[in-house]
Amino acid sequence: MQPRKAWFCKRSCRKGKALKETSSSSRHEELTGRDFFIMETVTIDGVQLNLSQPDELPMHWVGQDELVTQIMAAWLVMGAGDFPLNPRLIGKPGVGKTTLAYHAARQLNQPVYFFQATIDTRPEDLIVTPVISDQGKIKYMASSIATAMIKGGVAVIDEGNRMSEKSWASLAPLMDNRRYVESIVAGIKIKAHPAFRLCTTMNDDASTFDLPEYIHSRLQPQIFIDFPDREEERLILSANLPFADDQILDYVLNFLQVAHEAQERYTVRDGINIARYALKRLNMAKEGKGKAKERIILALKEAASMILDEGAAGYFAMKGSGLDI
Ligand SMILES: Nc1ncnc2c1ncn2[C@@H]1O[C@H](COP(=O)(O)OP(=O)(O)OP(=O)(O)O)[C@@H](O)[C@H]1O
Ligand SMILES: [Mg+2]
Repeated sequence: MQPRKAWFCKRSCRKGKALKETSSSSRHEELTGRDFFIMETVTIDGVQLNLSQPDELPMHWVGQDELVTQIMAAWLVMGAGDFPLNPRLIGKPGVGKTTLAYHAARQLNQPVYFFQATIDTRPEDLIVTPVISDQGKIKYMASSIATAMIKGGVAVIDEGNRMSEKSWASLAPLMDNRRYVESIVAGIKIKAHPAFRLCTTMNDDASTFDLPEYIHSRLQPQIFIDFPDREEERLILSANLPFADDQILDYVLNFLQVAHEAQERYTVRDGINIARYALKRLNMAKEGKGKAKERIILALKEAASMILDEGAAGYFAMKGSGLDI
């Protein structure tokens, strides 16, 4: 597997259009005027694959360090004959599964590749897909998962149970000690680099599939993300809302804590969205009537009813919760 490089224009590459293929980086000057990045290729069993780009995202996990340790432990290889596990992150919507998966993957100092699973994901989408190039030839595009396997990166299959068993089945040999996948379209077998790691997040809503036992047993251990405690939730809010003042953060924190105690499904993501909208709303109505506290709570109530429901807005009027006017 000898990586080769081709220059791609950021805009035209979305249509799969390579401007110039070369193994020399001196081509850059000829192609300037727009943004370019290098698209790598690799040849496996005589078939040239175009690799994906890794993801670099501003996602930072705050608190609950134990969860990061659990993922790192699952990925550890104890010695010859051992192989890494493929943790499955579960928990209520918006509790931080995707953020945690990305954060843990970054700790390995390897490139991170997201794959967003959907109901339309086909088995070949997970491995290699053919596209027609400018010259009418077939080009093989390695998925983000196949690229992570080749480069020794970390693949995060996000919202994994939005795709069906049929698609998961094509990854079965990758997730046990065989550590390879077969591309039917390209007619090749891709072996995972020893540094390759995999994890998935699973969602808990109506538009997901129940996966069979042979898939579940390969996606272990299961790591459950629960609501954070008060102190951690405060840290998460301030990390995500560095522009919000303490008063708003405290109101939203109280709202979330009261809601968790009442077994509501509202998560920190809802709290962040409520604060974001309320801040924008307050900014639009700087000269509004009434006391500052009153105006803030009214903006938060409005945000809660628009983002969640009237029941959520009701928490911002509860006596004794610190959220009453
Ligand atoms: N521990 C945390 N540290 C930092 N940010 C967090 C944490 N938990 C949640 N968040 C924030 O909450 C929001 C939702 O997080 P994320 O998208 O990771 O949740 P999720 O569980 O993957 O949601 P879904 O079920 O919809 O896929 C993000 O804005 C994220 O920054
Ligand atoms: Mg997610």
